[in-house]
Amino acid sequence: MLIGKPSDIPSSAITPKEQYLNRRRFLRGAISGAVAAGAAAVGAERLAEVFSPRIGALAGTKLETVKSPLTTTGEELTPEEYITHYNNFYEFGVDKDQPAKNAGALPIRPWTIKVEGKVAKPLTFDIDTLLKLRPLEDRVYRHRCVEAWSMVIPWVGYSLSEFIKQCQPLASAKYVQFLSYYDKRVEKWASESTISWPYSEGLRMDEAMHPLALLTFGLYGEVLPNQDGAPVRIVVPWKYGFKSAKSIVAVRFLDKQPSTTWNDQAPNEYGFYSNVNPEVDHPRWSQKTERRVGLPFYSQRRTTLMFNGYGDQVASLYTGMNLKKNF
Ligand code: MTE
Repeated sequence: MLIGKPSDIPSSAITPKEQYLNRRRFLRGAISGAVAAGAAAVGAERLAEVFSPRIGALAGTKLETVKSPLTTTGEELTPEEYITHYNNFYEFGVDKDQPAKNAGALPIRPWTIKVEGKVAKPLTFDIDTLLKLRPLEDRVYRHRCVEAWSMVIPWVGYSLSEFIKQCQPLASAKYVQFLSYYDKRVEKWASESTISWPYSEGLRMDEAMHPLALLTFGLYGEVLPNQDGAPVRIVVPWKYGFKSAKSIVAVRFLDKQPSTTWNDQAPNEYGFYSNVNPEVDHPRWSQKTERRVGLPFYSQRRTTLMFNGYGDQVASLYTGMNLKKNF
């Protein structure tokens, strides 16, 4: 199973956040004529299915945040219901709407991250300790999927470098690998794809230490919904979305480039670096433009920016490298 180029979802199928929250509140109670009327455009049955509160016990918990100088400004945020109902999380199904339906089973507490490999000593961090390690920042980032769609997401977290410093990597650590939670009893849908689990991703150490790389605990000021990688994931905004492993349980420091899920699946299609690059097409489609999810159909198309628009901050990481070869 390979990442596919998705077909468009009609914007009429999804509603703005306030409406959605109201509907969820309502759906917990009795069905009334008023909401049935509000739901008419989407279909009440579909609403009940899409917005049922199956997104984890801590769903909706607010996080205290501070503003960040590293935020991207000026672009319209993608409505939360797209961010939470149009997902890639193959452990919970290969269709975009499946993670929202199936990820409720992810056991997000207790949760630890094991730190292994080239470190002063192996460590284990509890999620609630990590949440308090640094002030949580609101960081609006562009999110560009290799499938040529994009969103603008207000994440919550702090720089991955702050966490890495706590891990005390040795000088011999040149790469860092992130491994996602995997339990086939919980993630029954994982067998629908040919991926060898757990999901694995990796960065070169200097990439991981770049302040833009985010250890992410939330979005829209609340804890991450399970389908977005609760309770903690990585976000690397200048790379295609698949570099951002969800629901991570282990971090390994290595002296060699780790094997990574999509690169293993199809090395000619998904490079280890996978920096957003409009000049390097995917073998099956162009990367020159993207479809901004959540906007009216006629205004979705936009030009893809080198390094997803973060070039002034990250291009120096790749000085002297042939980015067509190291795609
Ligand atoms: N992490 C895990 N564990 N499993 C996955 O299937 N999909 C990746 C990435 N991280 C994936 C994952 C892909 S292909 C993308 S585009 C992003 O998560 C999607 O993140 P989002 O659903 O929050 O938009």
